[in-house]
This record gives sequence, structure tokens and C-alpha cells, in this order.
Amino acid sequence: MNSSSQTRKDFPILERNINNKPLVYLDNAASTQRPLSVINAVSNYEMNYHSNVHRGVHKLSELSTNAFESSRNKIKNYINAESEREIIFTRGATESINIVASSFGQSFKSGDEIMVSQMEHHSNIVPWQNICKKNNLKLIMIPISKDGEIILDEFAKLLNSNTKLVAITHVSNALGTINPIKKMIHQAHEKGAVVIIDGAQAMSHMKIDVTELDCDFYAMSGHKMFAPTGIGALYGKEKLLDGMPPYQFGGEMILSVNFKETIYNELPYKFEAGTPNISGVIGLGAAIDYLNNLNFDDIKKYELNLLNYLSEKLLQISGLKIIGKPKNRSGVISFMFDNIHAHDIGTIVDKEGVAIRTGHHCAQPIMDFYEVSATARASIAHYNTKNDIDVLIEALNKVKEIFS
Ligand SMILES: Cc1ncc(COP(=O)(O)O)c(C=O)c1O
Repeated sequence: MNSSSQTRKDFPILERNINNKPLVYLDNAASTQRPLSVINAVSNYEMNYHSNVHRGVHKLSELSTNAFESSRNKIKNYINAESEREIIFTRGATESINIVASSFGQSFKSGDEIMVSQMEHHSNIVPWQNICKKNNLKLIMIPISKDGEIILDEFAKLLNSNTKLVAITHVSNALGTINPIKKMIHQAHEKGAVVIIDGAQAMSHMKIDVTELDCDFYAMSGHKMFAPTGIGALYGKEKLLDGMPPYQFGGEMILSVNFKETIYNELPYKFEAGTPNISGVIGLGAAIDYLNNLNFDDIKKYELNLLNYLSEKLLQISGLKIIGKPKNRSGVISFMFDNIHAHDIGTIVDKEGVAIRTGHHCAQPIMDFYEVSATARASIAHYNTKNDIDVLIEALNKVKEIFS
């Protein structure tokens, strides 16, 4: 596959200039861009059939409810879940994880253990830390190697009959490591633990099959898979979701209310209190249609080739260090110069039209592990090209010149 000019044309923003230079967008791990089909789906809804969902008997409400529920069906089919009841719309991966932590987390008892890896995004650490503090649970860290891979032997040793939940990222946002989640899920299940996968960084790079993975929960982030911001989804096995208490309370999540008692709604609505982000859900449905038309076998090869090219070119810049060297990598390369702060790198390359991310990437524990406070991170999508990489490399050479 080549990132054909047609693929790039699907994403109108890629045509624009930044600082009088053609935009080179290499900040896809922070947020991917939207294809025209998603933009059109959202604007069609806003212009032609906006109305609240599930409530009205009028035509507009029927149209928006149908579109809303059809997005749920698209996600269910796309990730190969068993039922729409297993798909809960959320604000994003962060909220998806928080639902599991605050609701499922209530079943844990003092002394129970929750395991998270050292490479997690703060979204997959802090909710667990919070529930551990509240309920006197133990938060156990799964260590990683200098290459940036989970040490599987250590993971196996740490698992025990007190392990109630394992929370791991599918792909690290700081290093790009693709974790061997299928194997880890299997090992965790053997000890009776439940597994939640943070899929925020995976969905735009690979096809996900939750049935094949056998994960218990999978957190999705719309804006990292070509959909709008403020929307995401949580997949959860029905038998687990069924037994969990609601996360928020109010309209939508009830069947009946009186001052003595409230009867909660059935799945998935039990977890969708209040008026949802209807336009976001419709945009997410359109993003799933877009993903359905991609050939992920080709995309994987194309992106790997691009990452290898990026890594080769980066290593030719003297004084530049790449952080982590995982064997299986997707989407992301983090790097730094010894004597130049990451923010300076980001600011200077921006002048050349290049968008990269600099900072701790909401993953401070991994920064601590590598004893750095910040890195620069280039992250790709299938619409990036070798030319994008060349422009980045040229801009990084300018950074070096300025600081030499
Ligand atoms: C690995 C990972 N998990 C979770 C999140 C949070 O996702 P969201 O913005 O959808 O809440 C991010 C965002 O950067 C991420 O990279």
C-alpha cells in the first residue's frame, strides 16, 4: 500500500499550511485527523436531523435514535462483540476505564490486588490508584525492560490468587510497544483475574476482535480512531456489566423512579446517564465505516515500513537518542537530544509546519523509568508519507544547528 493521494484527500486538513509550510501532521497518538466522511456525517446530523434520542415519538427523534443505535451496532460488529448490550458510549478511553474502576472496582475487598504496567497512560493508572486507596487494595506494577517491553516472566510471577484485575495498554502511547495482550489475558484468567485493555492507541492501526482476545473490557477512544473528540466506547462482557452497579445516575439509566425506589435500565443504558453526545456517536459510527473500508494487513506493513524509515533517519542524526526498542511497535517513536529540551524541539519543528508532541505524554512513570522528564514523540497514521518523515528530519537538523 502507498498512502495514495486519495487517502490524503480523504483528510481535508492535510491540505493546509502551517507557518507558511505544508502541514506535516505527526501527532496522531495525541489525536488523529477526521476524514471527510466523518465530518459530513456529523454536519448532516447537525443540519438535518438533530433531536434528542430514545425519547421523542416525532420523526427527528426517530432518525437520530436510529443513527445513534446504528453506531452501536457498527462498533459491536467491528470489534466482534456478542451483543450491542456490551457497547457503552463514553467520553473516551479515560471515562471507559473510570467506569470499570468505580463500578466493577466496588467488588474488590481489602488486600485484593490490581496490576498495571509501568508503561500505562495516566488514564490507566490514576483510576486504579484511587480505588486502591479508597478500598485498601494493593496496586502492583508490572515491570518493563529497557527495550520498553513488559517482562512476561515477572508478570507471571506477580499474578496470584489475590490478583483481581489486570489493566494493560494494547499499544503504549509513549513507546509504541504492542503488548502481547492475548497471552497476558490468558495468564490472568488462569488466576481468576479480570482484564481491561486500554485500546486508545491500537484502534487506528489494527483490527480488534474482542472475542478472539477474550478480554473482559476494552476501552476505545474516538478521537484516536478518526472520530470526533469527546466520544469513545467501553466494551464489556455482558455477564460482568450486568452485575456492575451504575456509574452515574439520572435520566436514561432508569426504568422507573419513585421516592422509595429506582429501577435501573437494562444494558447498555444503565451506564449511559443523561443526554449522550449524539453527534459524537454518529461521527464514531462514520469512523467505523471508514475503518471498515481499510485493509489493515496492508496498513500494518505500510506503517511498519514508515516507522523503520523514521527510526533509520532519526538514528543518523548525531546526538539523538530513541527511547525504547520494542520488537513489536506501532505508530509511535519517542526520541530526545541530551542537551536540548523536548519543548524546544517541538517549537522549532512547528516553524517548519511539523506537528509532533513533546512532554511526558501523560505517562510519567515511564519517563521516570528512563530517567527523563520529557521526550519528543512522532506518531504516524496511514495517511503519513516518507516525505513527512523527510520534512521532520530536515527540521530536526535545523534544531541541532540552532543549538550547536
Ligand atoms: C494509551 C492511552 N490511554 C488513554 C488515553 C486517554 O484517551 P481519551 O483521550 O480518549 O480519554 C490516551 C490518550 O492519549 C492514551 O494514549
